[in-house]
Amino acid sequence: MTDRYAVVGNPIAHSKSPEIHAAFARQTGHDIDYARLLAPLGGFRSTVQSFREAGGKGVNVTVPFKLEAFDLADDVSQRAKDAEAANFLRFDNGRIHADNTDGVGLTRDIVQNLGFGLAGKRVLLMGAGGAAQGVLTPLLEHEPSILTIANRTVEKALRLAERFRHKPVAAASVLCGLQFGELAGHHFDLVINATSSSLQGELPPLPADAFAIGALGYDMMYGVTPTPFLAFAAAHGARISDGLGMLVEQAAESFLLWRGVRPQTAPVIALLRNP
Ligand code: ATR
Repeated sequence: MTDRYAVVGNPIAHSKSPEIHAAFARQTGHDIDYARLLAPLGGFRSTVQSFREAGGKGVNVTVPFKLEAFDLADDVSQRAKDAEAANFLRFDNGRIHADNTDGVGLTRDIVQNLGFGLAGKRVLLMGAGGAAQGVLTPLLEHEPSILTIANRTVEKALRLAERFRHKPVAAASVLCGLQFGELAGHHFDLVINATSSSLQGELPPLPADAFAIGALGYDMMYGVTPTPFLAFAAAHGARISDGLGMLVEQAAESFLLWRGVRPQTAPVIALLRNP
């Protein structure tokens, strides 16, 4: 029997997840089918329930349903609780388990794939929405010396920093929230763009000297051409990476949680870069 999975979102046609999971299945010899499911806005719950009743084993969840996925679950992992969002559901013995594999996808891409250790580093996280919140715990687990959250709406950055500051995971790091105008004179080893500004072809007002020597600029988005943020980072001497590796790593973590085996990601990242 082929086990069935899907990615649920709106829109969903652009999703690369079916291609990634098909490659994992070939590599590991697992017999799975992984589809795209378009859920109408307001119809996430019924779409997931129909898929589950038809024998589906689990789903990945993407924009704009990660909060609804979190609310739908019977059991929620600690990292999904920290993110207050879920991108992963597993249907098991009549229960729905939720997890969030986005953050670990990001840190595995940065640390393992790009060879950039985070311990003791000064990290700037741009954005304070769902994408930023989803990666805070895994970033802090790597014990950066500083984790600064900068956001256009500064209240959201302050609130997020305050929520995480007292967690045990933040013990080794100085955590603060700022607005972009307050970044002048601060230098970072890693700058992560977790804003959705690239979707509008825009760039948050980042000072040119934000990138320390040897810094990495990482955009959680990916596309055929570099985002305005990556172009800016490269122009100011930073090494750059888009979020394709993060996408493949969050998928690998999902595959591990569903299937009990972690697929190799490097060949799949290479396949997506050079189809
Ligand atoms: P997501 O789930 O992608 O994080 P979100 O929760 O709507 O989506 O958050 C979007 C983030 O991108 C926010 O941090 C937002 O800043 P505000 O909180 O000030 O709205 C940020 N963002 C979006 N467009 C931006 C732009 N053009 N410049 C700077 N920040 C932007």
